[in-house]
Amino acid sequence: MTEHNFGNLIYTYDSAAGEALGKREGHTPKIDAPAKVKPDEVFELKITVGPHPNTVEHSIRWIMVSLEEEGRPFNPVLLGKASFTPVTTQPEIVMKVKLLKGGIIHAFEYCSMHGFWSGKKEIKVQ
Ligand SMILES: [Fe+2]
Repeated sequence: MTEHNFGNLIYTYDSAAGEALGKREGHTPKIDAPAKVKPDEVFELKITVGPHPNTVEHSIRWIMVSLEEEGRPFNPVLLGKASFTPVTTQPEIVMKVKLLKGGIIHAFEYCSMHGFWSGKKEIKVQ
C-alpha cells in the first residue's frame, strides 16, 4: 500500500485527477465572502457544497473553515466547523466573521464516499 501524508489525501478542484475529475463540481466547497473588508467589519462567510446526494450511504458529513492568516507563524486558525445528519441536514454553513489581518479562507468538507475536499478564497483587510 502506498502511504500518503494526510495533506495529499485532500482533493482540490485543481489537483483532482482520474476518477476524481468528475466529482469536482459536487464536492469542492464554495466560499461566498467579500474579497475585501475593513479591520473592524463583521461580515458574512457562507460555505456551500453541492449539488450532492444526501442519503445515509452518501452525504457530506461535515464542513470545517479555517484561515491562513497573513504573517502568522503557525497556520491555519480554525474559524468553525459543523457536522450534518444525512437526509435531514443540508451541507451549508453561514458564519459572522471579523478578521484583524487578511489571508486565505480554506474550507474543507468530508463526503462519506469521496473523501476530503477543500476550496479557498483570499480576503484582503484594508
Ligand atoms: Fe460524494
